[in-house]
Amino acid sequence: MITTKAKILLNINVTASNIYKIVLFIEGMPKIKAGQFAMVDCGKTDGVLLKRPLSIHSFDNDTITILYKALGKGTKALSRMQKGSIIDIILPLGNGFEARNYSNIALVGGGLGIFPLYSVINEYPQKNYYAYLGCKDKHDFVCNDIFNEKCRKTLIATDDGSLGQKGLVTDFLASDLKRFNAIFACGPKPMLKALKNLVVGTQIPTFVSLEERMGCGFGACLTCACKTIRGKERVCMEGPVFDIKEVIL
Ligand SMILES: Cc1cc2nc3c(=O)[nH]c(=O)nc-3n(C[C@H](O)[C@H](O)[C@H](O)COP(=O)(O)OP(=O)(O)OC[C@H]3O[C@@H](n4cnc5c(N)ncnc54)[C@H](O)[C@@H]3O)c2cc1C
Ligand code: FES
Repeated sequence: MITTKAKILLNINVTASNIYKIVLFIEGMPKIKAGQFAMVDCGKTDGVLLKRPLSIHSFDNDTITILYKALGKGTKALSRMQKGSIIDIILPLGNGFEARNYSNIALVGGGLGIFPLYSVINEYPQKNYYAYLGCKDKHDFVCNDIFNEKCRKTLIATDDGSLGQKGLVTDFLASDLKRFNAIFACGPKPMLKALKNLVVGTQIPTFVSLEERMGCGFGACLTCACKTIRGKERVCMEGPVFDIKEVIL
């Protein structure tokens, strides 16, 4: 983990639902693993003092790309920052997804939780991927095309049927379970709970990335505690990726 400066190379709105793509240049980039996140300074304006946790969507030797929704004070302030600006950033944070031992991987994402899943394909391009991506409606989809390009199957589901299948991603996963030897997921708690019900009793290793509210991002404030079979753990340090069998959702 390092605290460093990043230069904004791009910061643009990519959907009708206020989702932005930001590309940051970082000199002396540390080694990054799929599923890790960064604490990003949003400019210290409008009373925004804390950095905000944002997942790394993709990375190379000197840039990272993040997709983020301009929701509240911090992310809205970030969305107003211009190309060329320099911001403070702490990265990489958290444990990340470990895909080394698996060949056929299901990526199950809901809403903003879709964004970090692409980093698995980025880090391990040689695996067989099957993506199950769900959002409220078609306006929330930003990166389904790149999943389409890289995955053997990409199933899109929306609550209102405005894009892909109507329903929840987990409804469409059940009949394909035999194809996978691992499942990586990120999304809202109800989706993760439904996934847990689905995989309980199977032998498929299943890992979920949690997105609790965070203060520091590196283990000091305990804001991000979640319940596990071992007791409370910090999502920013022991997570954000947990074995679904060990986390209490
Ligand atoms: C490990 C991690 C990775 C994340 N990755 C991404 C990402 O890649 N892209 C992205 O758009 N967002 C991501 N988030 C959520 C993002 O951090 C929050 O949306 C952001 O901190 C909100 O800050 P704000 O100042 O804009 O909003 P605030 O003014 O602080 O809050 C506005 C609204 O956002 C909600 N909110 C705040 N924190 C979270 C959170 N952690 N999860 C869900 N809702 C929250 C609040 O409840 C409130 O309704 C991630 C969160 C975590 C913990
Ligand atoms: S956010 Fe401070 S301990 Fe996790």
